[in-house]
Amino acid sequence: MYSQKCIQCNAEYTPQEIVYTCPKCDGLLEIVYDWSDLSISRKDFEGIPLSVWKYKALLPVEREPVSTNEGGTPLYKCSPLAQKIGIDTMYVKHEGLNPTGSFKDRGMTVGVSKALELGMKTVACASTGNTSASLAIYGAKAGIPVVVLLPAGKVAMGKVAQAMMHGAKVLSIRGNFDDALKLVRELCDNEGFYLLNSVNPYRLEGQKTIAFEIADQLGWEVPDKLVLPVGNAGNITAIYKGFREFYELGLTERIPTMIGIQAEGSCPVVNAFKQDQKDIVPVTNPETIATAIRIGDPVNAVKALRAIYQSGGLAESVSDDEIVAAQKDLARLEGIGVEPASASSVAGLKKLVDMGAIQSDETVVCITTGHLLKDPEEVMDMCESPIEVDATAESVRKAVFG
Ligand code: F0G
Repeated sequence: MYSQKCIQCNAEYTPQEIVYTCPKCDGLLEIVYDWSDLSISRKDFEGIPLSVWKYKALLPVEREPVSTNEGGTPLYKCSPLAQKIGIDTMYVKHEGLNPTGSFKDRGMTVGVSKALELGMKTVACASTGNTSASLAIYGAKAGIPVVVLLPAGKVAMGKVAQAMMHGAKVLSIRGNFDDALKLVRELCDNEGFYLLNSVNPYRLEGQKTIAFEIADQLGWEVPDKLVLPVGNAGNITAIYKGFREFYELGLTERIPTMIGIQAEGSCPVVNAFKQDQKDIVPVTNPETIATAIRIGDPVNAVKALRAIYQSGGLAESVSDDEIVAAQKDLARLEGIGVEPASASSVAGLKKLVDMGAIQSDETVVCITTGHLLKDPEEVMDMCESPIEVDATAESVRKAVFG
């Protein structure tokens, strides 16, 4: 048993109602469960391989899901990187190893399954890229049309390629992500398309399984600190909800501190946190090399700030240079290839350790949200180019040894 509940005025809506925000007060909605009849223990999860659907009992989908092996991503223990940053124990949960190369697949397997359950005929989203790539594959698997609105010229190549190849209708909007989101919300309201941005509370239910998996992978322990990039602010909300639910079900003993990282040129949540505010003032011209989180008016900001305040967490910004340095450290010290937005979590961790906001004996999990191959153009700009040489042993030797 579950319903859709407004986080502001507590109005409740049935699972079948197509509402994205509260019709009464425009507040954000959250899926709330009545688990009074649910008896669940750690034993129920033993021996089952990790995946989003391992936790089906805690997800709001009744039908056979539209699924393609999402979740079950590795949690790497990163010793060389931890040493460089100056902490004892650090893990990276590499969400770039999902089917389309980002965590969005967790949300979309639930969201598109729900779309079918609700009888929706077309699904749509605005995106900085990854959401559109993910919606494209789940729409293809479900056999329903997909419409995606992207900010023209500001989406990494790998992501556009995915949306195109999987058959989505791809529109390039002459505007930024915030403009695209406004437009797609209008389109969905007017045309009856199902909106699968993270304002849709069902999508976030899939993403909460990141928290479930981390607890599962750490033997039902939770880390002290959870650090992740924040863009439209859905994922931090979802992961906090997952940790809260495991705690409330008695599966874990505490909830980690949630730490959101944004890029300096695009950090409305950080600004709000630093001024002790419950909501943001939008940033009008967001800019960063981390195009995935180039968002000035995050739709889930109120939920994200609640997650941060309730968990005793914080929000911090990092520069593009810090992001690229962290991206190279992940790649070269740990063999973990990520896109720039993902590296902001590690850049943020480094900054917070340097500032003394995270202590060296605290256990930290950083989420890396998207794969390196999403944004090959950024890599071409940031790394030394391949050295072209004649096809002779001598010129190869010269190039290797100088
Ligand atoms: N990291 C990556 C790689 C992303 O693609 C996104 C969001 C985030 C972090 C931030 O997550 O929005 O839940 O706070 N990408 C969205 C998209 C906006 O359209 O693909 P968030």
